[in-house]
Amino acid sequence: MKERTLLLLKPDALHRGLIGAIISRFENKGFKVVGLKMIHITKELSKEHYSHLVSKPFYADLEKFMTLEPVVAMVVEGKEAVDVVRLIVGPTNASKAEGGTIRGDFSNSTSRNVIHASDSKETAVKEIARFFKPTELFDYKLSSEHYLYASDE
Ligand code: PPS
Repeated sequence: MKERTLLLLKPDALHRGLIGAIISRFENKGFKVVGLKMIHITKELSKEHYSHLVSKPFYADLEKFMTLEPVVAMVVEGKEAVDVVRLIVGPTNASKAEGGTIRGDFSNSTSRNVIHASDSKETAVKEIARFFKPTELFDYKLSSEHYLYASDE
């Protein structure tokens, strides 16, 4: 029931001063932030993270964009985190993202779409391990946790 998923707040989110607004979306939904840091993605890490895209024509631009400036890497935990977070984030092409989603509200682009989110439970496990050491992830209880969902959900 409880899952963890990885988010990257992309350089456009930092430049536009959207970090706080974006993190609030996940906190407001009841997700717990269990890992959070600012990092500089190297070209090697970009090629690993986007290995399924390195042969695409847009990869050079994607790598440049993701490696020139820092990103905020974040792990959130909660009920059905992978799927629910993807709903909150909206589709890759932000032009098609509905209002109320992060991409729908903050972007109109596929390449400058402010945030990355793991696309499956398997990917989330790999991506969390790619960006966070176990000691960088924290287990604690939200005081409101009891009220987020019933224990049998
Ligand atoms: S997704 O979101 O992972 O399911 O979709 P996917 O197609 O695998 O992700 C594409 C990522 O590449 C970034 N990107 C572009 N996609 C399509 N077209 C262009 N021109 C392009 N430029 C960059 C896109 O923002 C997706 O990044 P992530 O970090 O996965 O959201």
